[in-house]
Amino acid sequence: MVLNTFRTLRNARRALVENAPRPADGELLLETVGLTKAYAGADGELPVLGGIDLQVRAGEVVALLGKSGSGKSTLLRCLAGLVPPSSGTVAYRGAPLTGANPGTAMVFQTFALLPWLTVQQNVELGLEARGVPADERAGAAGQAIDLIGLDGFESAYPKELSGGMRQRVGFARALVVEPDVLMMDEPFSALDVLTAENLRGELMELWESGQFPTRAIVLVTHNIEEAVLMADRIVVLGSRPYGTIRETFEVALERPRDRDSPDFAELIDRVYRTMTGRTKETIPPVLNSVRAGEVPVAGRAEGVEPDRRTPANTPLPGAGVDGLSGLAEMVAHRGGDCDLADLADDLGLEIDDVLPLVDALELLGFAAVSGGDLVLTDRGSTFAGADVQRSKRIFAEAGMDVPLVRLITTSLRQSPDGTLRAGFFRDVLAHHYTSEQVTRQLETATDWGRYGELYGYDAERREYRLDEGAAA
Ligand SMILES: Nc1ncnc2c1ncn2[C@@H]1O[C@H](COP(=O)(O)OP(=O)(O)O)[C@@H](O)[C@H]1O
Ligand SMILES: [Mg+2]
Repeated sequence: MVLNTFRTLRNARRALVENAPRPADGELLLETVGLTKAYAGADGELPVLGGIDLQVRAGEVVALLGKSGSGKSTLLRCLAGLVPPSSGTVAYRGAPLTGANPGTAMVFQTFALLPWLTVQQNVELGLEARGVPADERAGAAGQAIDLIGLDGFESAYPKELSGGMRQRVGFARALVVEPDVLMMDEPFSALDVLTAENLRGELMELWESGQFPTRAIVLVTHNIEEAVLMADRIVVLGSRPYGTIRETFEVALERPRDRDSPDFAELIDRVYRTMTGRTKETIPPVLNSVRAGEVPVAGRAEGVEPDRRTPANTPLPGAGVDGLSGLAEMVAHRGGDCDLADLADDLGLEIDDVLPLVDALELLGFAAVSGGDLVLTDRGSTFAGADVQRSKRIFAEAGMDVPLVRLITTSLRQSPDGTLRAGFFRDVLAHHYTSEQVTRQLETATDWGRYGELYGYDAERREYRLDEGAAA
């Protein structure tokens, strides 16, 4: 399938290239200097990007990697000229942007296809937007459709297609304009694992063949492995205090990349350490001396003093009590200390799947990450070995160190009848997070508060209620 597509592609590409002068390898295509971006929020400006200096050159695949909310999509949109920076500049081939970037085209996570148009018409849209006359559109769209393996689907409507085929339409629509830079915002994350893997493989095969109709790729992803598989350069964005480039990794691994090679694993490890913002140096030497009740090292490692941790700068990960308890028990079984990559491997999971649980253990003071290892604290070991009643008590105490859980509990204590509408907390959080992020955090806070018997939640009335035991 891949090879077949590939051959069609090669022929199609020959037809596509009409001698258009292409930037030579190494030519500077995109450049930001001192780029900052802040969004207007209810209580002032929300800084998202702070002083980004980034260059994208012909011939390279650049991955923008970071956790959710680190400003990856915002940076991509600034590069595409879809969002104006608050300060600093974005230039395409040396010319500062004043509107949409003429050298880029975008592929979105959600495909963004028009359901009432066929595949062919959806792809032609890309050309229409660039003012290509109607009679030239059909041919070019047909070639892009061939190139990306959609031959035979021209007259299908999006609803008749699988997710993978829909995303191919997204690719064809972007590639049909032959942009110098293809921009992709988490293009594989809405697909199932196998489909994503297949599409990634085909795309990279095309790219390596040198017949790709673009000269550079900028890929936004939160998936470390995807970045290491695809990119020549990985730019890691940090989220605290707000979007800056935390580190850049050159990926010198040969293509196609071998997931099983030691070099691959070693790079994953290094990127992982950077992404979690913790290195051996920032971890206190004797982890288990962290006193019960003391806030764990995570905040300190990022330069945030424990007493300055607030719901605004400490988002709750999407991790339920069952999952994080399971992880704590597994680490306890391994002697309280284990390599994260190995652990994920043994569970058949991606490291990214385990990250929210790891974040949760750290927030609760149950564990800390040191190098690539997850190490239980005393509190964490006690929690992992406790019976249900004891573990609930430990959890209640730990929960009060978690800003959002503490906010809900203390607010309820101050409410005359011990209840508050969820909308109250939604409003508080909405100043800092998208509504999706607010929902996820409240789900986590509800789960944690219930388990610790701090408060309950009535879904019908959308109301939090203080647990009797926690009223004291
Ligand atoms: N149009 C917008 N208006 C206000 N805030 C926004 C807007 N777009 C994004 N944000 C906020 O900016 C931050 C970064 O968002 P985003 O760039 O989407 O990050 P990522 O793609 O890394 O998840 C988030 O806190 C988000 O809530
Ligand atoms: Mg995004």
